[in-house]
Amino acid sequence: MSVAPLQALPLEQLRQRSSTKWRKYGDDVLPFFVAETDYPPAPAITAALSRAVALGDTGYTPPDLGVASAYAAFAQRRFGWKPDPARIRTTCDVMMAIVEILRHVISPGDRVIVTPPVYPPFFECIPEAGGVVERVPLIDRGTGWELDLGGVEGALAGGARAVLLCNPHNPTGTVHSRETLATLADLAARYDAVVISDEIHAPLTHRGAVFTPFLDASPAAARIGYAVVSASKAFNLAGLKCALMVAADETTSAVVRSLPDEVEWRTGLFGAIAAVAAFSAESDVWLDAQLAALDLNRVLLAELLDEHVPAARYRIPDAGFLAWVDLSDLGWGDNPAVKIRREARVAFHLGPFFGEEGRGHVRINFGCSPELLTEALRRVGSLV
Ligand SMILES: Cc1ncc(COP(=O)(O)O)c(C=O)c1O
Repeated sequence: MSVAPLQALPLEQLRQRSSTKWRKYGDDVLPFFVAETDYPPAPAITAALSRAVALGDTGYTPPDLGVASAYAAFAQRRFGWKPDPARIRTTCDVMMAIVEILRHVISPGDRVIVTPPVYPPFFECIPEAGGVVERVPLIDRGTGWELDLGGVEGALAGGARAVLLCNPHNPTGTVHSRETLATLADLAARYDAVVISDEIHAPLTHRGAVFTPFLDASPAAARIGYAVVSASKAFNLAGLKCALMVAADETTSAVVRSLPDEVEWRTGLFGAIAAVAAFSAESDVWLDAQLAALDLNRVLLAELLDEHVPAARYRIPDAGFLAWVDLSDLGWGDNPAVKIRREARVAFHLGPFFGEEGRGHVRINFGCSPELLTEALRRVGSLV
């Protein structure tokens, strides 16, 4: 990629932000926990939101502001896949989309498969929808992580009704192969289960990896799958509240259509306006510049760990701005982020939140300037 890397905002400006990343801890703590990034917004988003603010365009979100067709065009440009905008609806965020779809596809008490270590709210959204979490951990192949398809089959054969897939996977940054996804779809189809694929990190797939939208993995995947997507990670729009529920088949789109109108009414208007701008071709150049910056940082982190924390084990992720780092060999206990925050004043995300596989781990958000990342690792290195 020959694009110049996007520059993160300086720390003095970031400290003026009011989001969780910058307000949860005091100014002496450098934050790398929650999944917010430190870049300036894409110019098309700034323009669209500034116009909306100036107009007082702060009412309710209409049913079709163009988000679905903007996403369909984005998916075609970026992933070579064109979902049908008529089979897409919006809601306020990815987690609510998952809960609302789950409510309609499972019955109370049904088991839903998750693949830990995984994004912590997955463990909560399943009970919220009336289901019970069934854990089928990822397999660590030594060079990368994979879905345990045998384990998934066992759980489905035992009665699990749905799989909550993270594709690409948070926190490992794994981009599942088309073959894996197609096999998963076959398994789900065989046991009359569904797959809900959370694809929020997909726009941040790095060079060298190829993202396959679950619904495009095979005809079976299109039949039994739901995708949930958003511009909120790639464009740092989490506070604006807009996510998309995507179906690719008559039966699944009937489920999405049957969700109460109230679910769609919860879409934030600023979220929808920003999503249209984010998914427009005009924002591709910004996204590529951000990817260039993240590509450098994911490698820089490996170098910094080698230098300052050589006992750390880290695999460079294939997607996203999150690094899953095993610090077990340092002897800092099950939850090393606690010591690191207390003694180095650096806030990483707590490994055990991601499931018991997260013991001894931290998750590091590298969507920041190289300087900030360097300072954080220097501080952590001083504890070693
Ligand atoms: C895999 C995954 N899903 C969902 C979310 C949250 O998305 P939302 O804020 O749209 O609910 C995140 C946030 O980091 C995430 O990493």
